[in-house]
Amino acid sequence: MSSDQAALVPRHVAIVMDGNGRWAKKRFLPRFFGHKQGVDALVKVVQACIDRNIDYLTVFAFSSENWKRPSDEVSGLMGLVLAAVSRYLARMGAMGVRIRIVGDRDAVSPKLRNAWNEAEAATAHNTKLTLSVAFNYGGRWDIVQACKSAMQAGVSPEALTESKLSEFMAMSYAPDPDLFIRTGGEVRISNFLLWQVAYTEFVFSDCLWPEFGEAQLDAAIEAFRERDRRFGGVKSTPPTAVAA
Ligand code: IPE
Ligand code: IPE
Ligand code: MG
Repeated sequence: MSSDQAALVPRHVAIVMDGNGRWAKKRFLPRFFGHKQGVDALVKVVQACIDRNIDYLTVFAFSSENWKRPSDEVSGLMGLVLAAVSRYLARMGAMGVRIRIVGDRDAVSPKLRNAWNEAEAATAHNTKLTLSVAFNYGGRWDIVQACKSAMQAGVSPEALTESKLSEFMAMSYAPDPDLFIRTGGEVRISNFLLWQVAYTEFVFSDCLWPEFGEAQLDAAIEAFRERDRRFGGVKSTPPTAVAA
């Protein structure tokens, strides 16, 4: 890979991990098995991101709207997350992953809150990759909580700028995502990172999340490399000779 291409590795990749239920349905299995397989897919993608020198991976694991699902699916997901923390935390630590949880923690059980706190504390000093897990997260929630926090910190209306408000967003520790991937075939944001994706490149894949792996990640990165990111400006092309 030339150094020019290496420079085009997205620094921050955000993924809506969608399609677990349909993956299970195709196999005549309960939806829970799709979520279980989805955790294994995530662990592989974390390693693939490290191998590709991606610094930040942010994944949508449970939206603020996913509480609308049947209670057995919701409780199954909560149990799965607890099991995943105890099963994979040591491995993530050994891989150099710093774990951050973004979302409203007030509504989750104290047991899950403690597991999140433990995962964050145990990996706080790792530097290979920051894995942010969006759980009970909504982009609108994030904007509202940032406004509330700014008010509580005494920021006056005159002092409130875009960069000031960014300091209060849940992911203020990370640059905005360069690449947004949604698996599962739907072409929508579903209330993921609304504020942060103003100039993110979007890639939508029909692949169901449990089947997502290195090949699909590489295809998304390839699509990203072909994008012309202008951020509202104009493309700097060398001047062409004008025929006399
Ligand atoms: C995404 O997969 C995981 C969560 C939302 C927790 P889904 O459960 O939405 O899977 P589909 O979209 O029904 O296939
Ligand atoms: C988005 O998927 C949320 C997660 C992947 C966690 P959904 O399956 O909840 O989104 P909709 O309902 O299709 O918009
Ligand atoms: Mg879905």
